[in-house]
Amino acid sequence: MPTTLITGANRGIGLALVREFQSKGHTVLATARDPAAAKDLKATGAELHALDVADPASIKALAAALKGRALDFLINNAGLGDRADMPRLDYDRFEELLRVNTIAPIRVLDALTPNLAAGKDKVAAALSSQLGSIANTNMSFGLAYRVSKAGLNMGLRTAAHSLADKGITLLALHPGWVKTDMGGDSAPVAPADSAAGLYKVITGAGPAKELRFFDFEGKTLPW
Ligand SMILES: NC(=O)c1ccc[n+]([C@@H]2O[C@H](COP(=O)([O-])OP(=O)(O)OC[C@H]3O[C@@H](n4cnc5c(N)ncnc54)[C@H](OP(=O)(O)O)[C@@H]3O)[C@@H](O)[C@H]2O)c1
Repeated sequence: MPTTLITGANRGIGLALVREFQSKGHTVLATARDPAAAKDLKATGAELHALDVADPASIKALAAALKGRALDFLINNAGLGDRADMPRLDYDRFEELLRVNTIAPIRVLDALTPNLAAGKDKVAAALSSQLGSIANTNMSFGLAYRVSKAGLNMGLRTAAHSLADKGITLLALHPGWVKTDMGGDSAPVAPADSAAGLYKVITGAGPAKELRFFDFEGKTLPW
């Protein structure tokens, strides 16, 4: 039975991913900032771990708790949304987005590399966004968000080469425009449908030395 760790799993796409991977027989390790308050997540029966991805000590504590434990799949899902553009940028918020959306997934990946290297499938996926595609940037909104996801893509694309030497495959994923607190009520994709598509993409991608950028239906997105 594969073992999968999912961050930011208490609501939205993360919670839907927990349910999807469990329904396919995976043992799911689910992280949340406050697991005790994560009612819906607790109801899934997943193994819960506390993790604030913006806090390096929290990542270190998780890695220590999981020392020696093999992970087949890691899904860096936790993230922050933001639609602001110039001249309404809040630069403290900009830094927070870089911490949570860009640096944190890389730090989590780095900390859990030994666990992935000990797994069978060795796939680390991160929830990026089509808004992080430089090629597709044709309108002005979400400046900090776009920068944070483009930076994540570059970080993963760079890391892919050294991690490939350990047999680890990286994926950057766009989940669709999904009806969550972040995506809002107008979003056309239900979290469960996004999660079902992401499950197929993540478990079906197979090994590769280069980072690939897919949406939840398996379509390749431009950088
Ligand atoms: N929804 C969309 O249309 C869409 C589109 C493209 C990409 N994405 C990406 O998909 C991922 C999930 O999005 P979503 O729509 O499910 O968002 P969401 O409903 O806003 O949920 C975000 C999740 O991230 C967690 N999180 C935020 N900051 C965290 C931190 N410092 N430490 C730990 N967890 C933290 C939240 O935990 P708390 O409950 O504790 O805040 C929550 O579990 C994100 O990376 C997002 O950028 C979403």
